[in-house]
Amino acid sequence: MTFSITRHLPEDATADALCTDVRSGLTANPKTLPPKWFYDAHGSDLFEQITRLPNYYATRAEEEVLAGRAGDIAEATGARTLIELGSGSSTKTRHLLGALSGLHTYIPVDVSESALRESGGTLAHEQPGLTIYAQIADFTNRLILPPTPGPRLVALLGSTIGNLLPAERLAFYASVRTLLQPGDALLLGVDLVKDADVLVAAYADPAVTGAFNKNVLSVVNRELGADFDLDAFEHVAAWDAGHEWIEMRLRSRTAQTVKIPALDMVVDFAAGEDLRTEISAKFRLPDLASELRAAGMDLSRWFTTPAQQVGLALATPAHSGIPSAPECGLF
Ligand code: SAH
Ligand code: AVI
Repeated sequence: MTFSITRHLPEDATADALCTDVRSGLTANPKTLPPKWFYDAHGSDLFEQITRLPNYYATRAEEEVLAGRAGDIAEATGARTLIELGSGSSTKTRHLLGALSGLHTYIPVDVSESALRESGGTLAHEQPGLTIYAQIADFTNRLILPPTPGPRLVALLGSTIGNLLPAERLAFYASVRTLLQPGDALLLGVDLVKDADVLVAAYADPAVTGAFNKNVLSVVNRELGADFDLDAFEHVAAWDAGHEWIEMRLRSRTAQTVKIPALDMVVDFAAGEDLRTEISAKFRLPDLASELRAAGMDLSRWFTTPAQQVGLALATPAHSGIPSAPECGLF
């Protein structure tokens, strides 16, 4: 059994990145914080609770696709190395791990050390023949991967791609493209545009999703000595029809001032002012195929549920300048 966990950034680099993000996000207008800071151990645990909420359909729907189509994905890719970005608990990944009969190495990559330790430890016992190199790293930075056997399959599941801003998303595609050799592939899980009420309901839960949303304030309190009062903010989920994304926000219930001693900063909030903590973009297949094509990848297979709630796109490095038509095999 091989299980190792490595950190690809020194711990103080994480602290520096948090300082930079908090300083720039809270001096911006409107105020923002990047969603990757939700995921300390408590945030990772809250996300797992979200996946079991009745209105949060995305995890169950993606699991349904993976349960039905992991064999097709395995056959199409023949992957010997699976690199999973934002792997979290790796729960749904087990369908792929079970189907990829020639798999040699699994590389889960996540900013959450607790998620990697828990999932990696469990998987190492479940799959004693598999080499597991877990990496604590930010997948929006350049990835440094160990030399492992190809073909390689890079996976980003759960519609985590939707949490990147459009420019970050394009930068992400470009960076993944540099990892792909001929024969390698990208497996991308996306949530699809649907009725706004269904989308808002998936994010509106005030208890669990509200606590997840406010957890970013707890992280800033603990790491930077700030004095955010979590009760002074209201959890808000709104559908932005123009951008076709859900926005999670924290709305200041009153006019208030927050101190952030580590940054030597005070931040004023007006009553009713919103702090945007996450976008969760929803996708349409033709747009997704075009943006992958623009990044030098062809959407070669598409798997979805009968109700087309979510989809899994399998993309391969483009060989020519001529875009190929996606094969839209429905579930
Ligand atoms: N893939 C899992 C988990 C999704 S939750 C699923 O589909 O259920 C999003 C995961 O991505 C969390 O584990 C979070 O810690 C991780 N994450 C978010 N932003 C990240 C980043 N920039 N780099 C690495 N991991 C990130
Ligand atoms: C991880 N990510 C894809 C989730 C989403 O749906 O955007 C995070 C989340 N935010 C609120 N609920 C779940």
